[in-house]
Amino acid sequence: MKRLVSGIKPTGELTIGNYIGAIKQFIEYQEKYESYIFVADMHALTVHNDPKELKKRIKDIVALYLACGIDPEKTTIFIQSENMYHANLSWILECNTMMGEASRMIQYKEKSKKGDTTVGLFTYPILMAADILLYDADVVPTGIDQKQHVELARDIAERFNHKYGETFKLPEPLIDDETSKIYDLQDPTKKMSKSDDSDKGCIFLLDDVESARKKIMSAVTDSDNKIHYDKENKPGISNLLVIYSSITSLSIKEAEEKFKDKNYGEFKKAVADEVCKFLFELQEKYNEILSSSEIDAYLDKSNEKVRKIASEKVKDTFEKVGLGR
Ligand code: TYM
Repeated sequence: MKRLVSGIKPTGELTIGNYIGAIKQFIEYQEKYESYIFVADMHALTVHNDPKELKKRIKDIVALYLACGIDPEKTTIFIQSENMYHANLSWILECNTMMGEASRMIQYKEKSKKGDTTVGLFTYPILMAADILLYDADVVPTGIDQKQHVELARDIAERFNHKYGETFKLPEPLIDDETSKIYDLQDPTKKMSKSDDSDKGCIFLLDDVESARKKIMSAVTDSDNKIHYDKENKPGISNLLVIYSSITSLSIKEAEEKFKDKNYGEFKKAVADEVCKFLFELQEKYNEILSSSEIDAYLDKSNEKVRKIASEKVKDTFEKVGLGR
């Protein structure tokens, strides 16, 4: 079975964009791939976090993974920082990454515009490469914003293999065309993001359903009043169609057909109904999971499993580059 690796960083509450762009794919693919899904908590340190809040969010993500439907029997869920080998490998990879290629990362360029940039924000895609290469991942499902980082991991692996001999598998990004970027409801040309300053255009998985409903009902659309998918000219409606079709598992075409004689108000209400139903059921499961004591025992076991895989890879890498005695 081919291997899949991916993760989410706990820098804010998870959004419906994280669900549609990433978690939903993890669930679908767990039937097909040997899956390793983690909480990328070390990545969260690239920006400042309240330590207590960060700790809470790490556990929240594990509970949300499970509540969304990731099956802990099929997928190994773990916490990145509990496996020290990620940081070990990251250093070796940093020393095999060129300044030029790291400087080309779009996310770094955008985020560093805000000023106060840490070195961690710059080297973060290399830690991400370590997350992937440590487990010999064949595929890495993500939203479109992470594609360039997966390609960097591939480039680093290729360079390392060329220099030191076959060590890493070359990973492939696994990106769904339609759902790889869910947009902000207030500005449908911008990615919906958990780390945004304003949350009006962002549906969080733990939003109370009434505020989620309000956000959808006030989503920015256009004045054409026809419901069809046209990303360029109707970004708001197209985004709502993608959200609706992902939550209901209807195709975009089927959703268009269903609403062809409806107005925007009726369509938004239908989207809100489905999203609220989804959130309500998800939150019920999440609360149940959080209050059970089984998560810790499970994480201890998966931690042991991933450390074993990772230690072998790091040992091989150290050997190849000539570290130690
Ligand atoms: P992060 O935490 O920003 O996002 C987690 C996943 O959610 C996807 N995503 C979206 N997809 C569609 N629409 C959106 N609006 C949206 N917002 C987020 C992201 O593309 C991502 O797949 N660096 C990564 C975490 C990471 C990782 C890894 C991923 C660390 N190591 C190794 C894969 C493999 C990140 O910051 O994702």
